[in-house]
Amino acid sequence: MLRSLYQPVKLTKITLYKIPARPLFLGKNLISVPECHSTNTALQALHDTSPQTEGTIFITAHQSAGRGQRGNSWEAEPGKNITFSVLLNPAFLAPADQFKLNMAVALGVAHGLQGLINAQVLVKWPNDLWLRERKVGGILIESQLRGHHLSSSIVGIGINVNQQRFQSPLATSLAVEAGHEFQLQEVLEAVAESLEGEYLRLRAGSAELKARYLANMYRMGESHKFIADGESFKGTIRDVDDAGRLCMDTENGPRAFSFQQVKFIF
Ligand code: BTN
Repeated sequence: MLRSLYQPVKLTKITLYKIPARPLFLGKNLISVPECHSTNTALQALHDTSPQTEGTIFITAHQSAGRGQRGNSWEAEPGKNITFSVLLNPAFLAPADQFKLNMAVALGVAHGLQGLINAQVLVKWPNDLWLRERKVGGILIESQLRGHHLSSSIVGIGINVNQQRFQSPLATSLAVEAGHEFQLQEVLEAVAESLEGEYLRLRAGSAELKARYLANMYRMGESHKFIADGESFKGTIRDVDDAGRLCMDTENGPRAFSFQQVKFIF
């Protein structure tokens, strides 16, 4: 199944994107294709048939069937945005610690973008990237387990860069917010470098990961409306637990929600 999705893509190393200069290992193996269905699917299929080195980036200018969280699709106008996937081998993480990878990736991407634009990029739990109350990017992490550890993770990243119009009123791009266009290569470099830094800190066992994630979290400590089990309620985000659940103080006392259970209301 994965293979048949991948095969229509002609695998050529073209110079659409260059190997990012500053990261140590992330993107040193860069596969850049003009078009593919989903970079996550394509990289997984490639890795299954021909194992790739950690840090391999699979990137395309035109992702025709991008996948998002909750089974949603990810739309990106061809040639205007960044859509890529990174292969990581976080074998140092137990499955119960998967959310640490999520936090590190979200922080890495958020800080990479923040360095490009003079505005704060926040993480909307669990790993959406928010810029001035709108979504500028998303992350889809798909991990494989081997025994008691994660063996490989495909980290898919979509950043709205130069696109001007969106179907959703809650979506934006770097260019819309900054008032000027960005070079896609420059955005890739910034995100890859920052992501690698966070990943290396995670691998070294950084103790402040969660505190830094919480400090960069959208709507942290503010009272807002949410919806869970078909009912809306007011809650204040206080924490995330080890399983990655969102911990809130609500009208009915403290509650913890999984990703499938709760939605933000805007
Ligand atoms: C979301 O916010 O729903 C996650 C979106 C993730 C989109 C990226 S684009 C590159 C990679 N390939 C995919 O098919 N999805 C991710």
